[in-house]
Amino acid sequence: MPEVLLLNGPNLGILGSREPEIYGTDTLADIERAVGEEVAGRGWRVVARQHDCEGEMIRTIQDSYETVGAIVNPGALMIAGWSLRDALANYPRPWLEVHLSNVWARESFRHESVLAPLAAGVIVGLGALGYRLAARALVATVS
Ligand code: DQA
Repeated sequence: MPEVLLLNGPNLGILGSREPEIYGTDTLADIERAVGEEVAGRGWRVVARQHDCEGEMIRTIQDSYETVGAIVNPGALMIAGWSLRDALANYPRPWLEVHLSNVWARESFRHESVLAPLAAGVIVGLGALGYRLAARALVATVS
């Protein structure tokens, strides 16, 4: 069965209780289930990984070249995750960058993503819905 990689970075494993006024109350398990629902119609299944370390994220990407596409929330690694960027540059399939919060409406250090230029698209500020929309985008665009 074709697989979609759902990759979440540092501090996203505690979603639900992490600053819920910013990130909402959905847990990562809720989000993983939602993405699974979105891609099931195409006969895909989700491989969900969350890592607090950049190196582990890189290893997961290197191990996921057979997936049909990916949804990546890099957390704060968006700002200076150059090694993660290099790993994503070698990922052979389309991927989308998702941020739950509207990073543009927050502190200025969150206003740059070194990863976004490589993404097929970026979704910010729509909370957990952003992951569903990213999944729909992959379903609609991946050949
Ligand atoms: C985040 C935004 C980042 O700036 C922050 O460091 C996170 C979460 C988001 O989903 O809104 O960890 O990626």
